[in-house]
Amino acid sequence: MLSDDKPKFYGRRQGRRIRKAKSTLLEAFLPQIKIELADEKILSPAALFGIPVQSVCLEIGFGNGEHLAGQALKHPQTGYIGAEVFKNGVANLLSLITGIKEGSALPSKIKLLPERADNIRVFDDDIRLLFPKLPDACLDKVFVLFPDPWPKKRHAGRRFINPENLREIARILKKGGILRVATDHKIYKGWTLRRLAETPDFRWTATCGNDWKHEPADWVQTKYQRKALREGRRPVFLDFERI
Ligand SMILES: C[S@@+](CC[C@H](N)C(=O)[O-])C[C@H]1O[C@@H](n2cnc3c(N)ncnc32)[C@H](O)[C@@H]1O
Repeated sequence: MLSDDKPKFYGRRQGRRIRKAKSTLLEAFLPQIKIELADEKILSPAALFGIPVQSVCLEIGFGNGEHLAGQALKHPQTGYIGAEVFKNGVANLLSLITGIKEGSALPSKIKLLPERADNIRVFDDDIRLLFPKLPDACLDKVFVLFPDPWPKKRHAGRRFINPENLREIARILKKGGILRVATDHKIYKGWTLRRLAETPDFRWTATCGNDWKHEPADWVQTKYQRKALREGRRPVFLDFERI
């Protein structure tokens, strides 16, 4: 932690200039679905959404938002919290769920696409700031998909899968809940399996290679997954049950 108690974030917060339509989405639509960090208040995740939900999932580092948007469309009775620091990624998610792209006419009131339930909420900052606001055993699934591998040994301390974050994920997952980690990186695969094996809170659910070498049933491909496939790397999908 830094002296002002903000954890240090090593990734990028913003990339290329965000053009008109996506800037408008960030200004005019994000506030409708954004999770604010109110002082001292513990959130009630199931009550965050515009509809009643039966379960709540969290995607950490949703990137361009394809998986989050796809899951939320497939499971309209589940609430999805997405956390992402990268502003361009947040803007892209907003574009996916409203259908507004560069060149689209901007309506006076921006709304979700009609086929979508109001079941996504966004935390546009470092998830480690939201962890303390989430109550124990409040989530059914946590997704960490293609986290930055930080392959150099001297950068290993930056990897998101680490004992501190796993303790928080174990705390907020319900018993029987699932942590899903996907990676295309050999070092990160071994690292993740070792870190998870070290904690008594999780059990790797795989019983054979088929369980982790192939996309899970309701999977939605992500940008980093497509990049890995183009470059000839085979992703793995590791599910761990909270015990
Ligand atoms: C390699 S990208 C993968 C993005 C996406 N999951 C995909 O598969 O395309 C990792 C993402 O995690 C985000 N990220 C890393 N640490 C984070 C944190 N502590 N809180 C929120 N987002 C984080 C980064 O900003 C980055 O966009």
